[in-house]
Amino acid sequence: AVARTPLIAGNWKMNLDHLQAVAFVQKLHWTLKDAAHEDGSVEVAVFPPFTDIRTVQTLIDADKISFALGAQDISSHDSGAYTGEISGAFLSKLSCGYVIIGHSERREYHAESDEVVAAKVQAALRHGVVPVICVGETAEDLEKFGASAVPAGQLEVALSGVAADAEIVVAYEPVWAIGSGQAATPQQAQDVCAKLREVIASKMGADAAAKTRVLYGGSVKSANIASFMREPDVDGALVGGASLVADEFAAIIRFQK
Ligand code: G3P
Repeated sequence: AVARTPLIAGNWKMNLDHLQAVAFVQKLHWTLKDAAHEDGSVEVAVFPPFTDIRTVQTLIDADKISFALGAQDISSHDSGAYTGEISGAFLSKLSCGYVIIGHSERREYHAESDEVVAAKVQAALRHGVVPVICVGETAEDLEKFGASAVPAGQLEVALSGVAADAEIVVAYEPVWAIGSGQAATPQQAQDVCAKLREVIASKMGADAAAKTRVLYGGSVKSANIASFMREPDVDGALVGGASLVADEFAAIIRFQK
């Protein structure tokens, strides 16, 4: 079996201005000193708002902090008359290794369709930024179609035209579990993550499916992270609220199976 390095990712959403970001990243770094992620056994990534990225990048470089940096969105275009949009070229220049694409909040409040998500995935890959592709069902979908049909369908479209050797990350975020305090059960997360791995296999091949990290997101906290990480197809977490509290996020990063 291929060993996949767990990825613990903090999606700050629209929180922490650039000064608060500095204080937070420094505190997290010092809290984690000598922790597991320092030896590379867990990868840590932070996803600040666009306006913080430069500041956080400078801090990471200056202090040799071992966090990966990501953005929360990307334009499907590379440059031009797209007011307010951010190109993947800009993100890669700022050493953003990752970009979240298709978060349910963007699907819901910015009407992002599966096709838009697929175009953004292509944009990220063109610029050497690893897309963190978010999929998940609403409470209504869950009742009508069960847990895996909607996320599997979303992922199929997102992966159209993605090469077998492309590096991607997939995040299963059931919409009903986001910010609700009601996480999926580890078994629910495992079932859907396993299904998503099958979709990766069918679109990109068995090697890609074995290598690709599939994360769970939705009310992850230090008290439940270990139960998710024990599941064979859950390779990490995409954390919202609990990623904004340094001690709590550090405790999530230090999960013990
Ligand atoms: O992208 C992470 C997210 O949507 C989960 O948020 O606050 O439930 O951890 P939260």
